[in-house]
Amino acid sequence: MRHASLAVDPAVPVSEVDPRLYGSFVEHLGRCVYTGIYEPGHPRADATGFRQDVAGLVRELGVPLVRYPGGNFVSAYDWEDGIGPREQRPRRLDLAWRSIETNQVGVDDFLHWCRAVGSAPMMAVNLGTRGLDAARHLVEYCNHPAGTYWSDLRRANGSPQPHDVRLWCLGNEMDGPWQIGHKTAYEYARLAAETAKAMRRVDPGIELSACGSSHQRMPTFGEWEATVLEEAYDLVDYLSLHTYYEQFGDDRDSFLARAVDFGHFIDAAVATCDHVRAKNGHRKRINLAVDEWNVWYQSRFAGEENLDWAETPRLIEDTYSVTDAVVVGDLLITLLRHADRVKIGCLAQLVNVIAPIRSEPGGPAWRQATFHPFALTSRHGRGTVLRTDAVAPTHETAAQGEVPVLAAVALRDDSSGEVTLFAVNRDQRQALTLDLDLRACPGLVAGRHVAVHDSDPEAVNTAAQPDRVTPRPLDDVEVSGGRATVLLPPLSWNLLRLAGGH
Ligand code: AHR
Repeated sequence: MRHASLAVDPAVPVSEVDPRLYGSFVEHLGRCVYTGIYEPGHPRADATGFRQDVAGLVRELGVPLVRYPGGNFVSAYDWEDGIGPREQRPRRLDLAWRSIETNQVGVDDFLHWCRAVGSAPMMAVNLGTRGLDAARHLVEYCNHPAGTYWSDLRRANGSPQPHDVRLWCLGNEMDGPWQIGHKTAYEYARLAAETAKAMRRVDPGIELSACGSSHQRMPTFGEWEATVLEEAYDLVDYLSLHTYYEQFGDDRDSFLARAVDFGHFIDAAVATCDHVRAKNGHRKRINLAVDEWNVWYQSRFAGEENLDWAETPRLIEDTYSVTDAVVVGDLLITLLRHADRVKIGCLAQLVNVIAPIRSEPGGPAWRQATFHPFALTSRHGRGTVLRTDAVAPTHETAAQGEVPVLAAVALRDDSSGEVTLFAVNRDQRQALTLDLDLRACPGLVAGRHVAVHDSDPEAVNTAAQPDRVTPRPLDDVEVSGGRATVLLPPLSWNLLRLAGGH
């Protein structure tokens, strides 16, 4: 048994949490859209063809924001293909995933579904094969009230009210050589700046996110961000970052420490934003949109160049273990600890494709192990992130060096005074005793403790066993004199809720 301590200090709050930190992502990829959120003829589909069993799980997951329609898909996508009568929509080759795109779901369909599940959209425009014109027309189609070609077409297509899309991505991963229409930093920077200008002329109320790096190991990381911001600083609000992690071989200790790497990535991107700000005398700050992040076993994916043209193929349907769930929970802790600069996060993706929700055609939908830390963090990780001081043992990992075995973040709900703590024990062999010093938050009286953990680190949920991995109550939180002690099981993600406080 190992020991750690953590003091919660409400005097200097880190930041309010932007609820959009708990966003997700729907891409036309594999079975995310077709037989994921949309499956006409499924017993649980509504009159518009969207699955209500999946929609129910999306609501339970708690995603205030959903990014759409890609991803790599968007970089060769003509959004006009997906509007109007379904029987007239063209079948196209999707170059990103070597699939057949039927266009049975498009802009209007997605946006109606998105509002129905209680989320706001984050729409990406194609800066690969298209550009400024297609982007400004799409903003006009979505947001202009009426009386112009594109807005009247939207009305004729069954959406009399504007969709009012506030948040837009200027392309996707344009730094990646795999991207259709890949560009140099300067080529992208100029295109993003001019496209942003035109989109803002159509609707000055929108927010825009420019592509940053596809991951931290990109050879252009840093330089890419600086070049984009040199050209587009005043025209954009966010810089986008993407990152995925996986376990290599049996090195679980390194995998369990990946959130440390994630934090360094975020810090480096913030430093680049602030460097350009200082150098050029800008007033506003550029914040981050980590609009693709997750665990993804990319080494198991054969690569898009090896795929055959297929309609609705089963692509990158990773099944997540309790270990993956603990890592996802730890990555969420990292996002929260950076809530002062990370305002948007999108768990990639939402259904079937590296997703917390799985569904079978004509069959059931269920929660993957990763669903649970995400849903509980989204539900309880609201309010203000507080400063914490932790003293924790460390251990050595092959890929990350020496890392603390404890990751934790504390938040206060300003209306109820409730304090919530998320904590991960990265040690897969030993439990961790955590002494909490809550004396600076007077009046906390009682608490709840639930944990995601399992004696088998490879335990997963399946259609046959959908609840093999679920949060388990460990109600061991007694607050006395502003102090409490809890036990974090080995390899566990933990939620502690402490009531009172006012
Ligand atoms: O989420 C899967 C893919 O990962 C996206 O299409 C792309 O943006 C990223 O490389």
